[in-house]
Amino acid sequence: MTYPLNRWYVAGFDWEVTDAPLGRTFLDRPVVLFRDATGRVAALEDRCCHRALPLSCGRVEDGALRCGYHGLLFAADGQCIDVPGQARIPGKARVAPYPVAVVDQVIWIWMAQETGGQPDREPPRVPAHADPRYRFRGGAFHYQAPYQLIHDNLLDLSHVGYVHTKTIGGNARVHMEAPTNVAADGEHVRVVRRMMASTPPATYTAAWPFEGAIDRWQEIDFHVSHLQIFTGAVDAGAEPIDNPDRGGFHMRGFHGVTPETATTSHYFWTMAASSHPDGPDNLETVYRQTADTFEEDRVIIEAQWRNMQRFGQPPMVDIHVDAGANRARRVIALLKENDVENNRESAVQ
Ligand code: FES
Ligand SMILES: [Fe+2]
Repeated sequence: MTYPLNRWYVAGFDWEVTDAPLGRTFLDRPVVLFRDATGRVAALEDRCCHRALPLSCGRVEDGALRCGYHGLLFAADGQCIDVPGQARIPGKARVAPYPVAVVDQVIWIWMAQETGGQPDREPPRVPAHADPRYRFRGGAFHYQAPYQLIHDNLLDLSHVGYVHTKTIGGNARVHMEAPTNVAADGEHVRVVRRMMASTPPATYTAAWPFEGAIDRWQEIDFHVSHLQIFTGAVDAGAEPIDNPDRGGFHMRGFHGVTPETATTSHYFWTMAASSHPDGPDNLETVYRQTADTFEEDRVIIEAQWRNMQRFGQPPMVDIHVDAGANRARRVIALLKENDVENNRESAVQ
């Protein structure tokens, strides 16, 4: 399986790496995450160079990782620094490190085309995580489905009125008929939808004191390794909703979609929301309802994938809601073609 390489992918959230090693596979490559002596997150190939036990089966000792089989100790850069009972450390006793960076509480890992490849850009920012208007919480879901089915789902929010009737749904027909604009710029795809004078769904009324009907927006920014989705609403007619500084209730979702294997995925999400000064404290409500919402997506997408396996891949029919998802699929197909091309060139040289 090939994936778009030479880019930052989400490896998890800062709060997930505690004092124990955390083993996860990204893009078919097993990785162990742990904290070094200064508290920084480090990532190594999850295979001891002695007899191949996953290092994630071991333990962290003063910022180094002790293998759980015969006790070799590895520093954050992958160098073996202790072989119990043996003074000499073999020169080849090291495991490959991965570049990692923690920004806005997101752990990013650089997945390079070449072994040892280094990042050529800064990791993406998640502005909502650092914005004093918002508070956020999130979670890490595991999917028994390929990562692009998650992209499809997030780029096509027309499903909201059918799948999420208990939380962020609302009137299904209004969602399906919402004017939708799709724009693409290089690897970035943007989908904007508006639902004017619509009925507020359950999550919105629980989190914000709307007076009645609402003018609602969904603005989806797709990047290859993650999406940021800005949704929200104002009281119908209260103010224009194309103003970047608009008021009202804001939900800013972050969605890190990292392939685990060709057929399984990590989904790292957060939801940041605004609270009305006279309204209830909505952090827990928004978190709970968002977690329930994304669990509904997981059920749908895993069922979809099981059925795709049962039926094979007969042709599928496109409808109007697919424009954004299809555009993102073209971005990834092109990147994979380019990677194959680059590989071919480096093999020839
Ligand atoms: S397998 Fe790790 S020390 Fe032997
Ligand atoms: Fe959904």
